[in-house]
Amino acid sequence: MAYSLIKSLHLATIALTLALFVLRGAWMMAGSPRLQARWVRIVPHVNDTLLLSSGIALAVLIQQYPLVHGWLTAKFFALIAYILLGTIALKRGKTKAQRVAAWIAALLVFGYMVAVAMAHAPFPFGQ
Ligand code: HEM
Repeated sequence: MAYSLIKSLHLATIALTLALFVLRGAWMMAGSPRLQARWVRIVPHVNDTLLLSSGIALAVLIQQYPLVHGWLTAKFFALIAYILLGTIALKRGKTKAQRVAAWIAALLVFGYMVAVAMAHAPFPFGQ
C-alpha cells in the first residue's frame, strides 16, 4: 500500500521534473525571460525534493541502497551528474553552445536513470 503510493509519487515527480527541464531548456534556447519567473525558480525545487524523498523512501521499503546495490549506486552517481549538467544547462554555461550541449547530455543521463531503474541493473542496455 505505502509502496505503491510512494512509487506513484516517484513516477509522477519524475514526469514533472522531465517536463519542467524540457520547458526550461526551450526557454534557455529562446533566451526567454520566463526562465527567471518566480514560480520557475521554486516549483522545480519543491518537485525535486519530493522526487528525491520518494526515491529514498522506496529504497528503504525495498531495503536496497546506493553504495550497496549496483543499480542504486549507478542511479546515485547519475543523479549527481544530472544535477551538475542541469545547472550548467540552465545557469552556469558560459555560451549557448555549452548550455545546449549540457542540456542534451542531462537528458541522456536522465534516460539512463530510467533504464537503470526499470532493469535494476547499472548496465541496462543490451541485456
Ligand atoms: C531523476 C531522478 C530519478 C529518475 C529518473 C528515477 C526513475 C525511476 C523509475 C522510472 C522507477 C520505476 C522503475 C520500475 O518500473 O519499477 C524508479 C523506481 C525507484 N527509484 Fe527512482 N528515479 C530517480 C531518482 C531516484 C533516487 C534519488 C532514488 C534513491 C536513492 C531512487 C530510488 C528508486 C527506488 C528504490 C525505486 C523502486 C524500484 C522497485 O521497487 O522496483 N530513485 N525510479
